[in-house]
Amino acid sequence: MNPGRFITFEGIDGCGKTTQLRLLAEWLRKQGRTVVETVEPGGTDIGRQIRKILLDPANTAIHARTELMLYFASRAQNVEEVIRPSLAAGHVVLCDRFTDSTLAYQGHGRGLEPDTILALDRIACHGLRPDLTLLIDIDLETSLTRARRRNARSGQEESRIDDEHASFHARVRDGYLALARHEPARFVVIDGRAPIDAVARRVAEEIAARV
Ligand SMILES: Nc1ncnc2c1ncn2[C@@H]1O[C@H](COP(=O)(O)OP(=O)(O)OP(=O)(O)O)[C@@H](O)[C@H]1O
Ligand SMILES: [Mg+2]
Repeated sequence: MNPGRFITFEGIDGCGKTTQLRLLAEWLRKQGRTVVETVEPGGTDIGRQIRKILLDPANTAIHARTELMLYFASRAQNVEEVIRPSLAAGHVVLCDRFTDSTLAYQGHGRGLEPDTILALDRIACHGLRPDLTLLIDIDLETSLTRARRRNARSGQEESRIDDEHASFHARVRDGYLALARHEPARFVVIDGRAPIDAVARRVAEEIAARV
């Protein structure tokens, strides 16, 4: 049986994760692979209910540890219901954000201890780690411009995270880059400021070399 591959997309808001995940899924399907697309938080019915709580701008009272556990509650469900069974069946699983998001946002961004986050990761994910993590890196200016344009187009209210300060996002970006330096074998850092098709080609090159 083909071994499955677990590939995650990471990076600050608006860097192009969702865009690139969809393009990669299309590209892999053309190569004859079975691809499962999922997202954190979300990805399951239960996860989508948790995601609503997390992204509701009215939930300003949420405590950082409550938020942390909700992210991992969604992840535990996704790992059990979608990710592990798909990997066991030999599929390629593409996940839009995973534990590196929690380390970058709740750890580097909000100052929660990495050991606390990793302890919850052990409970929620049972040792499941991505085989490859694509970190799409853009500067803060580009991130904000894209988020605003997208929200304006879809008539969405800015999410709670979009409202927060540039310094928070700067810490998150630096956090991601530190994670990538710490695990160079798992991470590939891709410049997300290039046009969409150029980024997609870079992503496909990396996947072709590794999957
Ligand atoms: N390389 C690119 N150049 C220009 N615009 C881009 C590029 N990649 C994505 N975009 C646009 O930027 C916006 C954000 O892209 P996308 O939704 O893929 O980012 P994301 O990382 O998934 O964001 P979020 O973290 O908010 O979910 C979209 O409107 C998308 O079309
Ligand atoms: Mg997205």
